[in-house]
Amino acid sequence: MKKCLQNVVVRNKKVILRVDYNVPIVRGKIIDDSKIKATLDTIFYLISENCKVIILSHLGKVKTVQDKSRYSLEIVAEHLKSLLGREDVYFSKDNYGIEVINRVNAMLPKEVLVLENTRFLDLNNRLESNCDPQLAEFWASLGDIFVNDAFGCAHRGHASNYGISKYIPSCIGFLMQKEIGMLNRLIIHPIHPFTVIMGGAKIDDKLDLINSLLPKCDNLLCGGGIANTCLKALGFETGESLVSEDEKIIQKVKEMLLKYKDKIMLPLDAIVGNTYDNSYAQYKLISKISDNDLILDIGTKTIEKYSHAILNSQTIFLNGTVGLYENVKFANGSKEILGLLKKSGAIVVVGGGDAGSSVKNLGFLHQFTYVSSGGGATLEYLAKEDLVALSAIPDEGEDIEVLSM
Ligand code: 3PG
Repeated sequence: MKKCLQNVVVRNKKVILRVDYNVPIVRGKIIDDSKIKATLDTIFYLISENCKVIILSHLGKVKTVQDKSRYSLEIVAEHLKSLLGREDVYFSKDNYGIEVINRVNAMLPKEVLVLENTRFLDLNNRLESNCDPQLAEFWASLGDIFVNDAFGCAHRGHASNYGISKYIPSCIGFLMQKEIGMLNRLIIHPIHPFTVIMGGAKIDDKLDLINSLLPKCDNLLCGGGIANTCLKALGFETGESLVSEDEKIIQKVKEMLLKYKDKIMLPLDAIVGNTYDNSYAQYKLISKISDNDLILDIGTKTIEKYSHAILNSQTIFLNGTVGLYENVKFANGSKEILGLLKKSGAIVVVGGGDAGSSVKNLGFLHQFTYVSSGGGATLEYLAKEDLVALSAIPDEGEDIEVLSM
């Protein structure tokens, strides 16, 4: 059991609070604020304890100077201010250096200060993502206590969510505590038959996790990039669809398909788009996919095939979506799968990110046992039963010696 916020004396302290405010933003508007709302209990508690609350978060992947305007946390800080209903919530366009030190020194109790996107420091040799010790030490020096409530990125070992814990006393916040508690209770030792539905765009970094998950589940139903890559490995034409191009990955996929052929289910048909025509959407059997096709959803035969496994399951974990649900032409598969999950009466855990947003946007809010705020983090916790950022937090009753600054 990790050291929890309610068991740590935080009264009147300066608290560094790491959250995951990596929220989807379209044309300057936050289209799903669940991750922000999920942290409010922790923030209100810290305010009630008279703390000065310094918030750190990443947003997006910052690779070029142009990414800075796209991924500023300023609108997130504005939104947090309205959710908290308080005037004393501020944004600092700096996240490193003397300006930040001065701003923090001027804070009053109960004030909340959101620093700019931690990944802006990635433009300098990926200091944040590679967990630069000096950067971690700098952020740690701003506070007395570190509270990690960023479950959604706890599978990342960044300076701001992992490195800091080495320098000041640390604990987990209420969201992290709830997430770990729910996952332990619902899917770490699942009631069988246990089905995992895996979709989404990311492929390469999920493969090892899927391999660790396969011995634990009874069925793995595939959609999205994972399904396309499996189809490619089996020799099917996948046209312009999202697939892994890495030969080593394809080889690993082949081995996985052979070893777990009784558990892995792949699409029989699809709704395809076309690279040259935005309005094009056509039903096709997988065996009929051609050069210009883009597989963007699963078809009716696949839904029928998957329905048997879903309706026979006692526990189901959904990670990612099986189609491009944001476009109504390719949303049917995701909607049908959510409908089947509801009908199954099983314990249903939905990983955050796209799957979490699809639950909200396709009309299935409050229909499932648990919707996590983390996508990749939930998958990794399920596969490894640990997360790198969590491993840096001491257990209850354990006093970890912090490095001197
Ligand atoms: C997420 O949204 O899944 C987390 O914030 C992690 O983001 P990342 O994949 O960019 O590290």
